[in-house]
Amino acid sequence: MCRLSRPCQGAHPRACSCNNIGRVTVTLTTSESAPGTAEADVLVIGVIQTPDGPSAAPGAEGVDEALNGGLSSALTALGATGDLEELTKIPGGGKLPATFVLAVGLGAPPDSGSFGADELRRAAGTALRDLVGSKPNGKANGNVNGASKTVALALPARDAAEAEAVTVGALLGGYTFRKYRATPAPDVAVTLLTGEDTAAGVARGTVIAEAVNLARDLINTSPLDLPPADLAAEAERVAAAKGIAIEVLAEDELKAGGFGGILAVGQGSSRPPRLVRLSYTHPEATRTLAFVGKGITFDSGGLSLKPPKSMETMKSDMSGAAAALAATAAVAELGLPVNVVGYLCLAENMPGGAAQRPSDIIRIHGGKTVEVLNTDAEGRLVLADGLVRSGADNPDLVVDIATLTGAQVVALGDRTAGVMGSSDEVAAKVASVMRDVGEAAWPMPLPKHLRKGLDSPVADLANVSGDRGGGMLVAGHFLREFVPDGVAWAHLDIAGPAFNSGGPHGYTPKGGTGAAVRALVELAAEAAAGRIPGE
Ligand code: BES
Ligand code: MN
Ligand code: ZN
Repeated sequence: MCRLSRPCQGAHPRACSCNNIGRVTVTLTTSESAPGTAEADVLVIGVIQTPDGPSAAPGAEGVDEALNGGLSSALTALGATGDLEELTKIPGGGKLPATFVLAVGLGAPPDSGSFGADELRRAAGTALRDLVGSKPNGKANGNVNGASKTVALALPARDAAEAEAVTVGALLGGYTFRKYRATPAPDVAVTLLTGEDTAAGVARGTVIAEAVNLARDLINTSPLDLPPADLAAEAERVAAAKGIAIEVLAEDELKAGGFGGILAVGQGSSRPPRLVRLSYTHPEATRTLAFVGKGITFDSGGLSLKPPKSMETMKSDMSGAAAALAATAAVAELGLPVNVVGYLCLAENMPGGAAQRPSDIIRIHGGKTVEVLNTDAEGRLVLADGLVRSGADNPDLVVDIATLTGAQVVALGDRTAGVMGSSDEVAAKVASVMRDVGEAAWPMPLPKHLRKGLDSPVADLANVSGDRGGGMLVAGHFLREFVPDGVAWAHLDIAGPAFNSGGPHGYTPKGGTGAAVRALVELAAEAAAGRIPGE
């Protein structure tokens, strides 16, 4: 059923935000029944590498017996090695309820204890992507093709940690974006075969994966259908559903509040900017985190117009705001004992007649002035307003999340986020928390000499540097000028990781990835546990 509080009435009826038409509905339930007898169209099992060849992973007990002891020989005959993400299909041959067994490689088994979370996420994600996710060309996978499908997932899920990882991988890998497709999205019922006492892991994994998929839906939505006001309305719906307080500043309030960065970027568009403030509080919280997300609903570059090719993926320039919204929603749903304030700095960067001009001098919230030399360096202008505003919340740590620079992609490629911060320690800690949840990230320095390139002859600073090189770090320097005094700060440049223009891999589809959502939730969990920002 459509969960829209306001039915879509525009000229684009299929732009309705109802998630059930937006993607394949993967419904997850858990069961402790035996995999060999699981009633499902497809049975997914894990394969591990052993010195004696491929072997069924824990979780697949009983499948070999059901196949009359033929599992290992079938795997070997079909060329399986157990390599991570390797897929092998074995016909059920009437011996199992399932039509076929989909065996997915997990790599070498752990020496002891649980399988690694990343291996489980990637294996589950690869399997579900093969069964229900989209193909590289965006077409629905032929295995479901409009029909309902049932999948039994018999990967290692013996404890809560393993079950959480399999849940996250399955729900992320099973994601498809079908909002604008004529054919209806099929339902896929996934039964996760788990051990006892895994319910908390499945529940946590479900909340986190659904948050990532919410961010993906917002990023993938046509920018025609998601101007700042509509993204703010989405935030209102999410906040209402999760019991999060929300405040949306429209143009007049932005003017009254002196949010000159957001206003300047938005003034070239016929669709005005917004600043959204979400606030989740917990009575036992001892820490407050602020998430400040770049929310450029489309980045044309403004008068410093981008070339057409560079514009093709710029609907994803609101990925930071989507991550801030989705992560705040997940933290609220998980009820973590921490306070989170989320700022979504929303504007459409367009070259309309009222657009800002290179050489305009604008005033950021709090009073600092900026000479705008390049209107395509707009993300830092909207974030500056958000960063300054977050100071009023007295946060223990401010994290901004932004598809900020092409230089990030040049430096680190399209899968690894650059992490800068108020100190090398903060950057290193945040990058390491990101890697812990499988989000590639690397700490970056803010070399002091790069700051002077932002000096302006007429304003407190310029928005771009005259010097070439180190563009990701120069942008970090710019943002640092607006971080409230004495507050720990991390800056995540996710220009590359936010949007996958290449083929799908692991649990990552083409298009919006939901980058940084899991990292932000983990940072909140770390803060709730008193480990961030440290003593
Ligand atoms: N949104 C872009 C950055 C971007 C580029 C994100 C590629 C994802 C993929 C940002 O607003 C931008 O245009 N940055 C400029 C800054 C420059 C003018 C200093 C850039 O990177 O070229
Ligand atoms: Mn830009
Ligand atoms: Zn941008």
